[in-house]
Amino acid sequence: MTTDDRAVTRRRGAATYVFGALGGLLFGYDLGVVAGALLLIKKEFDLSPLAQGFVTSSLLVGCMVGALAASPLADRFGRRWLVLVSGTVFGIGSLIAASAANVGVIITGRVVMGLAVGALSMAVPIYLSEIAPARLRGALSGMNQLMISSGILIAYLVNLGLDHTGQWRIAFGLAVVPAIALVIGVYFQPESPRWLVKHGRAAEARAVLAGRNDADQVDAQFAEIQQVLAAGQTRSRIGALLRNRRVRRVLLIGVGIAFLQQVIGINTIIYYAPTILKTLGFADSAALIANAGLGAVTVAATVLMLFLVDKIGRRRPLIFGALSMAVAMAALGVVFFTAGLKGGGAAGWVAIIALAWFKISFSLSWGGMAWIMLGEIFPLSVREPAMAVSTFVNWAGNLLVGLFFPVLLAIGTGQVFFLFAIIGLVAFGFAIAVVPETKGKSLERIEQELVGVESPSVASAEAAR
Ligand code: BGC
Repeated sequence: MTTDDRAVTRRRGAATYVFGALGGLLFGYDLGVVAGALLLIKKEFDLSPLAQGFVTSSLLVGCMVGALAASPLADRFGRRWLVLVSGTVFGIGSLIAASAANVGVIITGRVVMGLAVGALSMAVPIYLSEIAPARLRGALSGMNQLMISSGILIAYLVNLGLDHTGQWRIAFGLAVVPAIALVIGVYFQPESPRWLVKHGRAAEARAVLAGRNDADQVDAQFAEIQQVLAAGQTRSRIGALLRNRRVRRVLLIGVGIAFLQQVIGINTIIYYAPTILKTLGFADSAALIANAGLGAVTVAATVLMLFLVDKIGRRRPLIFGALSMAVAMAALGVVFFTAGLKGGGAAGWVAIIALAWFKISFSLSWGGMAWIMLGEIFPLSVREPAMAVSTFVNWAGNLLVGLFFPVLLAIGTGQVFFLFAIIGLVAFGFAIAVVPETKGKSLERIEQELVGVESPSVASAEAAR
């Protein structure tokens, strides 16, 4: 390859990762925008607390269904196709929500957006990790998390800008812009080479592999992918997932990572940081500005994670990140427990530092690492159902925390943060005990190490018997 060819290849590669990861922007924007929009919708439609709960949780329920429904579609029609369709559905959902004449239509729009976000959260990590060269896979697949945190930050800024105007329709409607960019951008990107091999489209798969940075290794990579499929089972089977002991173990690791990423408490911090800041004595607008500042810190920490992930790996950040988040939650617990908050003061500052500490720790570890690893650890033959189940559990965990956090707060804010500190310690132990290191290995190598090449076929043979 000449230097010019390499530059073109690199540019093409970069476009794939940026556009592929745009799905994360929709994910983040949607999560972030609802809190601000809800305050305005509540006033306009005079919503009951129950209706408010539906507006918030309808997205999450849509996400759970979308993640599960995505599995057969990603398998049958491909990752790229699924991202294209999900981007379109998301755009339609955001227009429904933005033009709604009553709360029922808003909720319908949010469910439609949720279906798309759920499918994207399942398909994007697979697409990015399957198309990235092994030595850069952490950073390239981690672009998804950079887009998620950027989407949340943009949503905060939109909320801040629209705060005095009452224009919640603009907040929902703006989501159509990244959706269009996603659809147009991904239309011009190639399909995942792993999916192409799985569907017998060898020549196309080779062309995509040759278009990546590590073109010199095309033959070896191609042979490796064929090898893991050669054992016979080329279609995803949920039966294979559950029958094979080693595949089952990998599924449990994935589900554990996905669930713990939520119940460690990140979204309580995201949803409730403004409220916590107000409790500390910040005025409404100052709380929103401080919250946007926290969002910016999160994006910066995520960029740092991209630089580190292929050097220090995934396992160590998961271990130390969990410990670090447990410390931050315990500090918040102490602050609230000692009830020294009312006037702000020293306790207030400790709380703000603990909030920032938590968000930075999450961004350097479980935030990106969870999605990166979910895209890496599952065997190709059962990647879609395994990813769908894990993604479903992640959204279910998100819903669970969202539903129960307010209830738990009634028991005592300090106690709740101590509970999250304990969950952080559980995540710490889980990462030490079961999480493998995947840095720098090809997906096929990871599969060999975790389940052995022949395992899925053994399961399929068992299933056929
Ligand atoms: C999580 C989301 C969270 C976001 C925060 C994602 O990895 O899945 O639940 O809101 O990170 O940046």
